[in-house]
Amino acid sequence: MLKCPVCGGRMSVTEDKKSVKCDGLNPKNKKHSFDFSSDGYLSFGVTGGDSKEAVAARRAFLSTRAYELAALPIRSFVKLFVPDCKLLIDAGCGEGYYTSMLSEVSENTVGFDLSKFACAAGAKQAKRDGKTNLLYASASVFELPLQDGCADAVTNIFAPCAEEEYKRILKPGGYLFVVGAGKEHLMGLKRAIYDDVYENGERADLPKNMEKVDCINAHYSWKICGKENIAALFSMTPYYWRTSEGDKEKLASLEELVTDIDFEINVYRKEND
Ligand SMILES: C[S@@+](CC[C@H](N)C(=O)[O-])C[C@H]1O[C@@H](n2cnc3c(N)ncnc32)[C@H](O)[C@@H]1O
Repeated sequence: MLKCPVCGGRMSVTEDKKSVKCDGLNPKNKKHSFDFSSDGYLSFGVTGGDSKEAVAARRAFLSTRAYELAALPIRSFVKLFVPDCKLLIDAGCGEGYYTSMLSEVSENTVGFDLSKFACAAGAKQAKRDGKTNLLYASASVFELPLQDGCADAVTNIFAPCAEEEYKRILKPGGYLFVVGAGKEHLMGLKRAIYDDVYENGERADLPKNMEKVDCINAHYSWKICGKENIAALFSMTPYYWRTSEGDKEKLASLEELVTDIDFEINVYRKEND
């Protein structure tokens, strides 16, 4: 299912299993290859995305299981809509918290992220878990090195939504799951910092040219214990970058924080040919 990002040729794993190489069936008959990193992810040579520190903070926070009750419905939705999933692509997968869970309802799963640190963390965890049906690769979600119509399902969780690219890689009748913040997501966190608190608005990059077939919210209240876990959650949010030092201190003094967790799960279907 891999497509050479240089010439569009079909790619396969080399005999020594250290790289993938294209078939060179392009006009210049030149072959291109991309290597697996020592951590085990496939590197397409992109740069950017989350820093090492951001990846570590997300991993630490997610390991508290605060988001588990919101993550489980995503997996259930995939299983419900795509019961015979051969290939699932998690676009903007981060360090693979959801990707790993989703690999339980798909024969094969590939997580793509721009961040090499995120891909490395995901690949190392997959190795520790002995998951052989799960691959991580560094690439942009706007230019995925995948053949047209290869995926049964695409998940896109708190990451940029590249509608046209997801549509291109989905099989006809395939499903796209876009997950982001619902109206009440992290209200408790916002109340602890700001005087005036507003509900989250609708995101601007939701798909416009695919049929929306379902939408649910996974919404509950959760107590986050410990300064370090509150700090890790805060650093994962966009508020971290827009909050004054004074307001940041309000949060830093808290030992526990009760907040809404509100995930909005939108489901889209690619029409049949
Ligand atoms: C908020 S994190 C979410 C990660 C993961 N889905 C989760 O919810 O735990 C957003 C992720 O998108 C990645 N990202 C940002 N722009 C990207 C792009 N153009 N292509 C691929 N990944 C991208 C970042 O590196 C980061 O890992």
